[in-house]
Amino acid sequence: MPYYRVVGEIPRKRHTQFRRPDGGLYSEELMGEEGFSSDSSLLYHRYLPTAIVKSEAVEPPGSTDLRPNLPLAPRHFRTQDLPSGGDLVAGRQLLAGNGDVRVSFAAATEPSELYRNSMGDECVYVQSGRVRLESTYGALPAAEGDYVVIPTGTIHRWVPLGGEVKALTVEAAGHIRPPKRYLSKYGQFLEHAPYCERDLRAPAEPLIVEGGETPVLVRTRGGLTRLTYRNHPFDVVGWDGCLYPYAFNIADFEPIVKGIHAPPPVHQTFEGPNFVICSFCPRPLDFHPEAVPVPYNHHNVDSDEFMFYVGGDYTARKGSGIDVGSISLHPAGFTHGPQPGAVEASIAAVKEGKTTANELAVMIDTFRPLDLGPAALAAEDSEYAWSWVR
Ligand SMILES: [Fe+2]
Repeated sequence: MPYYRVVGEIPRKRHTQFRRPDGGLYSEELMGEEGFSSDSSLLYHRYLPTAIVKSEAVEPPGSTDLRPNLPLAPRHFRTQDLPSGGDLVAGRQLLAGNGDVRVSFAAATEPSELYRNSMGDECVYVQSGRVRLESTYGALPAAEGDYVVIPTGTIHRWVPLGGEVKALTVEAAGHIRPPKRYLSKYGQFLEHAPYCERDLRAPAEPLIVEGGETPVLVRTRGGLTRLTYRNHPFDVVGWDGCLYPYAFNIADFEPIVKGIHAPPPVHQTFEGPNFVICSFCPRPLDFHPEAVPVPYNHHNVDSDEFMFYVGGDYTARKGSGIDVGSISLHPAGFTHGPQPGAVEASIAAVKEGKTTANELAVMIDTFRPLDLGPAALAAEDSEYAWSWVR
């Protein structure tokens, strides 16, 4: 994260004696990325963050099998057809993945257990519902349209605030950050960036939970483990630094528009290892008098394009069966573009006075092929590949 934040009580100088009201020392913990060479935060615990009493292996909930997109085809998956239930961690239904990223869908109704993903950062896009992310950094409420970015190793849990929470979860094998080109040399958002520090929300006060032995589900490259801590890990009285979970709402993304069609990099929101996340938001239509206001056919030879349609209407996909909740996967090896008739329809709509593109979608472009997960295969509309000849 690019900016410094202080929450709760901390000592004036780091690594100095900081005492509890009973005279004992608070336990200082550094959470830091890339060894000691990147962003970090210092947390002050009431109890030792090292005190564990048990370690047990855990079988992964549900199937995590991935299979190649073979025979190669553009695909349409309907998350609308996936079951509801479970929580936002164990209830993830795997859609697609590769060595860099895994993307799942959840329609959660229950609180998750405490969870620590030590393989990489997570970005959870809340499609609908209200939820609270509780972590050692404090609580962070989130709702429809929020991206919630959780740094590697953060102990947290998801608590739905009444009703179902639908979300797309992105698990990276590394860090998820704002694109470098949006930031100054020292990390401040630049004026041309489509969002800035004021648009980001983070925990504002400590979250203390008194409790004895507490299990935490830990994901590492080796698999899943349940570590039991002697004391509840939510015992942090204060922290400071540049590493913490934060939320950013897609409605705060300020679209960048051109007279003629602008390509997806203008929609980029985050970057991860070998993938990007983009936000397609409502915006003025391309305004050149001769503009074609839908995308041209394109073949991004190095990318698979995974697009989650979360709102609005999709002129370019009319007649394809794609609706709110749908996901299209346009893989490398296949040229994709608007459905037949969409180009003329978009030009006619402008003549009739249409001035805005009313679309809302979250796109993940990966630079290595995406394999298909069990949830995608279970919710596939197998006719989509032939929709350009209908
Ligand atoms: Fe595309």
